[in-house]
Amino acid sequence: MEKSFPIIDLANLNGEERGIAMKVLQDACENWGFFEILNHGISTEMMDEVERLTKDHYEQCRKKRFLEFASKTLEDSTKGTDTSNLDWESTFFLRHLPVSNISEVPYLEEHYRSVMKQFALELEKLAERLLDLLCENLGLEKGYLKEAFCGSKGPTFGTKVSSYPPCPRPDLVKGLRAHTDAGGIILLFQDDRVSGLQLLKDREWVDVPPMRHAIVVNIGDQLEVITNGKYKSVEHRVVAQPDGNRMSIASFYNPGSDAVIFPAPALVEKEAQEKKEAYPKFVFEDYMNLYLRHKFEPKEPRFEAMKQPIATS
Ligand SMILES: [Fe+2]
Repeated sequence: MEKSFPIIDLANLNGEERGIAMKVLQDACENWGFFEILNHGISTEMMDEVERLTKDHYEQCRKKRFLEFASKTLEDSTKGTDTSNLDWESTFFLRHLPVSNISEVPYLEEHYRSVMKQFALELEKLAERLLDLLCENLGLEKGYLKEAFCGSKGPTFGTKVSSYPPCPRPDLVKGLRAHTDAGGIILLFQDDRVSGLQLLKDREWVDVPPMRHAIVVNIGDQLEVITNGKYKSVEHRVVAQPDGNRMSIASFYNPGSDAVIFPAPALVEKEAQEKKEAYPKFVFEDYMNLYLRHKFEPKEPRFEAMKQPIATS
């Protein structure tokens, strides 16, 4: 249906355009694994402040270390050392749920900590709203996906804050190597001027267009499992850019570590069940242990491995 990158204005969900917007969303989840949302409810003032503080944080706290890494990487690669397993990124991680670690993360000013905390609360609400829209399109009852992620301590929610500084040799090193995301639903606040994020669509890399104050959403492996493949997690990568420092703030709304993940029975056709073509059932933590060792590899062998009684490799 949708030929160009799917963009959904959430304001349309309240009006006559609702049916069309839900169809675009359905097509995006089935065929793109990605979409971009506008009028998502997070204020532009908050987004501008998050961006300003994040860019300042790179300049003041991470730039020096990154430049050391960068010069060593370039020196190694020109000497012929293999740098294909490196990513041209400077990053740190904040955990929000089940327990926040924001107060313990070093080198964050108090104001930045509090803005990121507020931003995470907004993103959490947005992720849960989106999960319910997905439920509606899938014919699942409201709250099904949120509940499926719950486990004994609720969902896991965290933010990876990244900068992709300018790279003089993008032919030698990737910004971030191709992968699918392991978790549930991912909300990305990306730079509106410096591009670089690409997704794989029909075997071709397609740019995810930078758009001011939009949020990019993508589907993780767990939603592919729960929907029994109806929705797809899609490979994506970041191409290092020769100009500009790309900001990327990706928030991962994932299952709790002990949540048991399995295809929603309503979405598994009988035939698939009999032929054992359904996606596997597993504890999310076991999947993550496997993913950490095989992130930059195709997802299908991971799903296959989880069909085995003890998935330790
Ligand atoms: Fe990713």
